[in-house]
Amino acid sequence: MSTSLPVELDDVQGLVRFGYKHHSEATFLLLRVRDRGAARRWLAAAPVSSAETVEPPPATVLQIALSSEGLRALGVAEAIVESFAADFVTGMSNDANRARRLGDVGANDPGGWQWGSADRLPHVLVLLYALPGRLADFQSSIEGQCEGGFEVLARLATADLDGIEPFGFMDGISQPLLDWQRQRPARDGERSDYSNLSCLGEYLLGYPNEYGGYTDRPLLDPGLAGARLPRAEDAPGRSDLGRNGSYLVMRQLRQDVHGFWQFIDGQAGGDAAERERIASAMVGRRRDGVPVVGPANETIEGGGVPGDLNAFTYRFDRDGLRCPRGAHVRRSNPRNADLPPGAPGIVSWVKRTLGLDADALAHDLVASTRFHRLLRRGREYGPAVPQSRALGDSPGSGDQGLHFICLGANIARQFEFVQNAWAMGVHFDGLRNESDPLMGARRADADGTPNDGFSMPRADGADERTAGLPQFVTVVGGAYFFLPGIRALRFLATAP
Ligand code: HEM
Repeated sequence: MSTSLPVELDDVQGLVRFGYKHHSEATFLLLRVRDRGAARRWLAAAPVSSAETVEPPPATVLQIALSSEGLRALGVAEAIVESFAADFVTGMSNDANRARRLGDVGANDPGGWQWGSADRLPHVLVLLYALPGRLADFQSSIEGQCEGGFEVLARLATADLDGIEPFGFMDGISQPLLDWQRQRPARDGERSDYSNLSCLGEYLLGYPNEYGGYTDRPLLDPGLAGARLPRAEDAPGRSDLGRNGSYLVMRQLRQDVHGFWQFIDGQAGGDAAERERIASAMVGRRRDGVPVVGPANETIEGGGVPGDLNAFTYRFDRDGLRCPRGAHVRRSNPRNADLPPGAPGIVSWVKRTLGLDADALAHDLVASTRFHRLLRRGREYGPAVPQSRALGDSPGSGDQGLHFICLGANIARQFEFVQNAWAMGVHFDGLRNESDPLMGARRADADGTPNDGFSMPRADGADERTAGLPQFVTVVGGAYFFLPGIRALRFLATAP
């Protein structure tokens, strides 16, 4: 059975619409082209799952994304490769400025990555998802099919930790709500309230985005594509190679679970309640997912559904007394609208727009989150480390972390902005000398000033400030990919 929405769901890869939560087993294969002809033949017919709803759900799901090196290795014309977004074409690891902006310096330097830099650049990312017990056979069948065309650069295994990421916090709670029905007006001007509903064009190329425009993407001469690609909605004279595709950012983030809990325990003087308080403040949610800013009905106008872990904003916590401004979830999504909150009416609008009050000025530092949302699709890897073990003396020998994956129509405006300006930004929202407490790279300023603090404001005095945060998360791999629409995938695999 398939649904009918005003989007060609049968052409969109399923990962854009589904997190495949029930497909709790997954492996990500990083491939390099060995034989161009064989590689193209496999990509031209590979059984990729679409975003259509299928009942019962398929036991296995295959998704395919390509890097810019992969497009070249497949023999796609240089003019077509160059018509993709510049960040994708250059790649995550090939530019020292980008590496600096993303915090990929020091221990995160691409030179030390397991994959994703120098001669270990993946060409094709194959994502395999399966219902419990079904992955092993599926993976060996797909690897068998790929053998002629590709060599395997890496097999990234994942772990099903029941929705809990390795530090021990519930993850995958907050996601943007995609406007699949295309009901959100393309141009609805400034938004004065935070909303989770997000234009399709923020995640899928070929549809209007939050600016009311179409994100740049490869538009081809119809003579080249024939009837194999649809015409662009905004340029009917061109064939839209981007339509129904998305950029996919992948980062392998190793988590030092032992180091994380040891540091926090030291700060807490061994006190269990204090330990949870500090850790929750750093994340912005308790380990069970409850936002530290407070229950929904206190923090969002009009209240929220009790128990809804995502119905909150920081509007009534401007100074971060309940949720520190530097907490991971607050940095990653400050939940602000374009206009500072205020009374309706033209006088208030003018004051807010011109920043004539303190609220407006403070708000402006983190305004307009709707242009910087990420659709997260990551999976954990490595064995779970119970908190009791992380608090013990031995760091253990396991390697665990997050295969971070996010989708977006614009890598620079979405992933890179959030990573650089918000997570790594040492002056984010008026803070000083601190970066994201979970994943900050802790790089000192040029004059040696350390950026390893974390402030928890107090109502009755100076901030409670923790200094000397070690680096808890290390980047050990990463790359930018294009997750094409299924027609576009076939076109790329067969284009002359
Ligand atoms: C190992 C590294 C990371 C860990 C342990 C981690 C952990 C978490 C946790 C526990 C949450 C709360 C659950 C939720 O709201 O869904 C969360 C939310 C989030 N994280 Fe991360 N994360 C990591 C890396 C990243 C990276 C690299 C980015 C993007 C650059 C990112 C962006 C986000 C976003 C956008 C949210 C949702 C915030 C919201 O909408 O309120 N995270 N993360």
